[in-house]
Amino acid sequence: MTDVGIDGIEVRTGKLKLDLAETFAPEKGEEPGKYTKGLGLFASSLPDVYEDIVTMAANASHRLMERKGLEPEDIGRIDVATESAFDNSKPVSTYVAGCLEQVYDGDFHHANKGERKFACISGTQALDDAYNWIRAGRNRGRKALVIATDTALYARDDPGEATQGAGAVAMLIDEDPDVVAFSTEQGYGSADETDFLKPNQQFPSVDGKRSVQVYLARMREALEDFEAAGGDTHPDNFAFIPFHTPFPGMVRKAAGLGYRHCIRGTDVEEELAGEIGRQPRREAFDSEEEYFEAVKEYTDALTETDTYTEWYEQTIDPTLDISREVGNWYTGSVHIARASGLKRALEEGRAVTGKKLLVGSYGSGAQAEIHAETIVEGWESEIEALNIDEQIEARYDLSFEEYEEIHDVHNHEAETDIEPRTTPEGEFAFDGWGRMGERK
Ligand code: HMG
Repeated sequence: MTDVGIDGIEVRTGKLKLDLAETFAPEKGEEPGKYTKGLGLFASSLPDVYEDIVTMAANASHRLMERKGLEPEDIGRIDVATESAFDNSKPVSTYVAGCLEQVYDGDFHHANKGERKFACISGTQALDDAYNWIRAGRNRGRKALVIATDTALYARDDPGEATQGAGAVAMLIDEDPDVVAFSTEQGYGSADETDFLKPNQQFPSVDGKRSVQVYLARMREALEDFEAAGGDTHPDNFAFIPFHTPFPGMVRKAAGLGYRHCIRGTDVEEELAGEIGRQPRREAFDSEEEYFEAVKEYTDALTETDTYTEWYEQTIDPTLDISREVGNWYTGSVHIARASGLKRALEEGRAVTGKKLLVGSYGSGAQAEIHAETIVEGWESEIEALNIDEQIEARYDLSFEEYEEIHDVHNHEAETDIEPRTTPEGEFAFDGWGRMGERK
């Protein structure tokens, strides 16, 4: 069976930066450590006034198509995953296609376009749809363009405000891919939850503390389901484990619990038994509460061991490099975690071709999904082509007053004709309705 997976990736960040330690913390009367150490975030990316989910998506997609030498006719499917859509009828992918058609002779007349919604997990769901379309043989040799794009903004003074971000990830899905090939096994954990909602409103209503617990519960269920599907979860068998990353501190929690779950009954649990004992087993306790308390104690001891620390440094920490600088991109977040891990592998010269990734996607509402990927030949040049470091470096560093002004614009509370802080250069830029995504 021919491999199907990600053939190319491009990442586009919003062009403004909110520094959490220098700019945000003093205004909020908080210690910078709450953000940099507790949440694990240094900065958020925000869109300038001429940027939005369409322009970021179109700019990422254009760079990807140029780099891969593609014409519109080569693409048979365009799916956008977003939770920041502004149109309840016309999918964002049609706006993106409209932008791209300005710069190509051909068009996307025969491409199937759609929009996927399930909070942050919809980017991964769109990858699945593309995978299934190709596997079903309906693609006629054409590729799928999957774009995860969001402006992840919270109301001011909401606890989530520190985790904001904005950016797009464009991914090309094809046979014989150059980055990763997808596994057939998948696992899901899914339940009707109301921890994070946006019912016809610009900013989410969030029960932040509860959302953390729901994330952990659904992720554990997805792991169990993945194992039931025959998926391997031994933590030493993966080069990286990219998780959905609303903030790196969330992944720190998920990684500790996930590691405990996955070493159960393995050589790793056995090797650590002399140091921290064996994992508590449910049947040894009278109540759920006592059992959970014992699990928590074991996990705390486990995450202090050298074995865990070394594993975390190798397998998890590299996936957080980009997220620390840009914040939560909702649908794009797990996909920048994958790119981030591969980027670190390239920087450190790690030989990861043929090695596996275990990908943990999540969306509030709520659903987690686990699948595996194999890193394939060609990944080095694809990852080397990313210019995300340059984009991060080039962002305009906002003062707190400028941040508030920009935030109001994106919440449609202020006129959009305030002065941009950056200048559009050879890119799609929002220039008022009706002139959407004009290339400057
Ligand atoms: P908070 O309640 O203001 O923060 O916001 P906190 O008081 O819990 O502090 C955060 C951490 O910093 C804690 O660490 C503190 O101890 C630590 P923890 O105990 O959790 O390990 N801390 C410090 N550390 C070092 N030095 C200091 C210091 N001070 C404190 N000086 C909250 C946290 C998660 C509630 C907030 O960020 C929030 O509401 N975020 C939005 C919701 C969210 O991101 N949830 C995550 C799971 S749901 C999800 O991922 C889905 C989502 O992406 C949406 C979608 O799917 O569409 C959000």
